[in-house]
Amino acid sequence: MRVHEHRGTPLERALRPVHRWVWSDTRRRARKLLTFAATEADGGRDLSRAAELTADPLLRRLFLRHASDEQRHAELLLARGRSLLAGVDPGRAGVFEANWIAPGERGLDDLRVDGERDAPLLAFLHLSEKAAAGRFAVYREVVPDEETREVFRRILRDEVFHMDYTRSQLERLVPARHGRHLWLARASRLWKGYLRVASAVAGLLGTLVLVAQYFLILPIFALLAKRAARRERPGWSEPIRREGRAALERQY
Ligand SMILES: [Fe+2]
Ligand SMILES: [Fe+2]
Repeated sequence: MRVHEHRGTPLERALRPVHRWVWSDTRRRARKLLTFAATEADGGRDLSRAAELTADPLLRRLFLRHASDEQRHAELLLARGRSLLAGVDPGRAGVFEANWIAPGERGLDDLRVDGERDAPLLAFLHLSEKAAAGRFAVYREVVPDEETREVFRRILRDEVFHMDYTRSQLERLVPARHGRHLWLARASRLWKGYLRVASAVAGLLGTLVLVAQYFLILPIFALLAKRAARRERPGWSEPIRREGRAALERQY
């Protein structure tokens, strides 16, 4: 598939106004690029490891090229992120990065190469690269400055190559079972996606419960404390003296 044909999934495209908002703030744009750079560098390391582990010479060459592409993406993103960050007001507080809306090349950050055989790894990589290509295609469209757009354009070209070679190598290695491997990888990605959403929802619910506690339960205690304070007489007062058994059982 050629780069200009890759335009992102219908969902990514429908979310373009949200992505435009996410990328509109310069500081957030810079921080997101730095976060993406770390993920890409991590992906590069995983692919170098995959190249060491595979017994297939062609795959080894492709994994090494892939690793060096991801490393280059990390450098491009880091350089652009730094130059954007240099131009913003350092006094301003940190901004919300919205990483769950615009996560970049997320697929590789939870990749486990050790113990993984070539076919499942290729299926996983194919889906991750496809998702990444879709996202970068949308980011390239919505990002407001030309230099960042150029960075995304260059990255997208490589992501489309990664997406294509992983698919064709999977078909070469397991011609009869490549569909099954893709299906399994898709199911695993869906499960991981579900876990990510579930933990985000759990975090949100936790915050809501704490906020509700603060605004609903705390005022009740404040009211009770106020009423108790009103009933108290000002200044020192004599303690109530108990006689007999009650006095022996209590400290006061
Ligand atoms: Fe990449
Ligand atoms: Fe990639």
